[in-house]
Order: sequence, then C-alpha cells, then structure tokens
Amino acid sequence: MIPSLTVRRIAAEQGTVFRELRTASLREAPYAFGATLEDALSAEAASFDATAAEHAVSFSVSTFILYTEGHPAGLIEAHFDDTAARRAFVCELWVAPAVRHLRGGELLVDTAGAWLAGEGADEIYAWVADANRNAMRFYEALGFGPTGEHRRVERAPEQVESLLVRHVPVTSQVHQQ
Ligand SMILES: CC(C)(COP(=O)(O)OP(=O)(O)OC[C@H]1O[C@@H](n2cnc3c(N)ncnc32)[C@H](O)[C@@H]1OP(=O)(O)O)[C@@H](O)C(=O)NCCC(=O)NCCS
Repeated sequence: MIPSLTVRRIAAEQGTVFRELRTASLREAPYAFGATLEDALSAEAASFDATAAEHAVSFSVSTFILYTEGHPAGLIEAHFDDTAARRAFVCELWVAPAVRHLRGGELLVDTAGAWLAGEGADEIYAWVADANRNAMRFYEALGFGPTGEHRRVERAPEQVESLLVRHVPVTSQVHQQ
C-alpha cells in the first residue's frame, strides 16, 4: 500500500517532534546540513521548544513537517534572509529513508514555497552541496536552476555548495494574495 503523505506547518508545542526530526536528519544525512549531530544533541530541549513556537507563527521563518499515516517523517525550513533583498530560502530538507521517492520531498518544497510566495516571495532559493548529487537532481527535477553563486561549505571548507533558484509562477503569486 502506498502511504498517504501530508504536510503541515509546525505547531508551537511541537518542540520534541522538531528535535527528533532534526537529530534523525543529522544522524542519517550529516553530509547535507550545516549543523552537526553533536550541535543538536548538545542543545537544550528548551531551544527546540522556542524554535517551534517561533516557526509556528512567524511571518519570516517557518518549519513544515511531513507526515506519513500521521507519523512525522520529514521536515523543511522556509525563511527570508535579513538582507535588503529579503531573499526567500528553503533549507534543512529531509525525508526519512523509508518514505523516499514517494514525492514527500516535493510536497515539502512546494508547501514551503507556497508559504514563502504567500509572504511575498517571487523566487525561492536553496543552497545545495555540489557533492550531494541526489539533492542536486531532486531540486533540478522540481524546476530549480543554477544562479551561478557558489560558496564554501562552512562545516567542510574543502567542499563547495551552489545556490539554486526557482521562480514562483505568476498565477501562484496572484493566488496567494
Ligand atoms: C533529497 C530528498 C529530500 C528527496 O526526497 P524524496 O521524498 O525522496 O523526493 P521525491 O520523491 O519528492 O522526488 C521528487 C523527484 O526528485 C528526483 N529525485 C528524488 N530523489 C532522487 C535521487 N536520489 N536521485 C535522483 N533524483 C531524485 C526525482 O526526479 C523525483 O521524481 P520521481 O520519483 O518521479 O523520479 C531525500 O532524498 C533526502 O532527505 N535526502 C537526504 C537529505 C538531503 O540531502 N537533503 C537536501 C539538503 S540540500
């Protein structure tokens, strides 16, 4: 049976779920993220509660959780940066291995992208490590393309990551207003 997948914005009281998903993602795919598992494990539980509470209501940063048959199985963060350009980003994307290739990642990116568009974004950016070929192909399949911007991965300076962008369709921008 194909499991049903749904995505919902994090709720203020979901600090524990958020901590479990973050540590699971850092344990399973450490190559994909800026933070380390040690960072997450050494952080106070209260900091996850505070982040969940903020991400549940903020207009500039949010987290969305993927559920399979009601069980948390993935997450993504969406935020605007604090430059004058106020660029919109998705990051921290992870789908549990048991439910990969079922379009959960696509649902997360589309939901986070729709929320950013609703808050005024007309372009959605994502930093992806060049070595993370799966994620690169995933984002390309979803219509993201290169911006030409690159930087060193802070956690592993010998590696490079590239900035990808997807334009929000005009109909979607109008729809969200
Ligand atoms: C990248 C990731 C989120 C994809 O999640 P997913 O739920 O398996 O992806 P989807 O099922 O929504 O895939 C959508 C499309 O992306 C492409 N895609 C997904 N995974 C892919 C892979 N491993 N290789 C090549 N293309 C892939 C495919 O075109 C796919 O469509 P298809 O199944 O019809 O061929 C998941 O593999 C993951 O969590 N990886 C580890 C963490 C990570 O790398 N995060 C990204 C940090 S930048």
